[in-house]
Amino acid sequence: QPLEADAGQVSMNGYPHYMLKEIFEQPDALRNAMRGRLNDQDATAVFGGLNLTPQQLRSVERIILTGCGTSWHSALVGEYLIEELSRIPVAVEYASELRYRNPPIENNTLVFGITQSGETADTLAALNETKRKGHRSLAICNVVGSSIAQASDGGVYLHAGPEIGVASTKAFTSQCCVLAMLALFFGRMRHMSFETGGRIIEDLRRLPSSVEQALTCDSEVRRVAQKYQDVSNVLYLGRRYNFPTALEGALKLKEISYIHAEGYPAAEMKHGPIALVDAATPSIFIMPRGTTYDKVMSNMEEVKARGGPVIAIASSDDTEIRKIADDVIMIPEVPEFLQPIVSVIPLQLLSYHIAVLRGCDVDKPRNLAKSVTVE
Ligand code: G6P
Repeated sequence: QPLEADAGQVSMNGYPHYMLKEIFEQPDALRNAMRGRLNDQDATAVFGGLNLTPQQLRSVERIILTGCGTSWHSALVGEYLIEELSRIPVAVEYASELRYRNPPIENNTLVFGITQSGETADTLAALNETKRKGHRSLAICNVVGSSIAQASDGGVYLHAGPEIGVASTKAFTSQCCVLAMLALFFGRMRHMSFETGGRIIEDLRRLPSSVEQALTCDSEVRRVAQKYQDVSNVLYLGRRYNFPTALEGALKLKEISYIHAEGYPAAEMKHGPIALVDAATPSIFIMPRGTTYDKVMSNMEEVKARGGPVIAIASSDDTEIRKIADDVIMIPEVPEFLQPIVSVIPLQLLSYHIAVLRGCDVDKPRNLAKSVTVE
């Protein structure tokens, strides 16, 4: 079985690093994740491998999403997506905790293990543990035929192609995309109208070209990277769908640039992180237009007032923000539920460029492995 892609066998396609290649592959990865899975006639998503009857799927009353690292971040995005679009309660668990925590799990709970490699030991163990207890356990996985794909009762493949860079990029956005389709699917089995389902399908279809547009921020991001390449600490702040994006942006910077970074829900700033703000600690606000835009804006003003440099990831038509933020990176406007997939793009690029400028080994960062197959 082709368990792990071998770097030597995958072309760099003219890119200096696999990570950069994989960042730029994201529009295609998203197209592949959606191919054959959007059904206009029923305004829903279709999945061939869930291995559950419509009755079994209809009876799901609770969903647990589990994974590690970046896959745990997409699980957090999935929580927002499934709760908002399907109205099914979702719990997100670190696989390493779930396997030993022994939480009470109600009947009719569906467990999804989210994993790029399909080989992460803790995710495999968590899935085996919930399966042993008689719960349906599915995988959202990239590598075909991997251990987790085989151990699960069924699932959804990402079809993102091999991901070689240790820092996960296209797997994250593909996982978010699959979770959005699952949220549509479960929503349409319950309360969601045909019209709403149809609108979500249209939004999903536009997504790859929005990501293509977001990628044009690359040279602007490189300029910002040059400005901040020597910092030691960075805060990433966002709310709702962009809170997991903040965590993912911070993780990317830690992983490949070895810069300390923390992601927080923006409103939590006043309960601790604001104490870190000084002239040498930039804050990155992920704040495309949406429900909490004004609230995040006032957080940003608080940081400015304390002398902290501010970088904003903002909607392309947001001209006001330039008056407050020191640096602005523009991203195209998409509906809130798809924002993480677009707003993470400049954050991936920022960590990439800072790592290159600092002379770090982008594709093979120190102390990290692409898949962690031991506990
Ligand atoms: C390792 C990798 C991360 C990845 C995590 C989970 O720590 O370095 O990039 O997010 O494992 O991997 P998985 O293959 O299960 O998604």
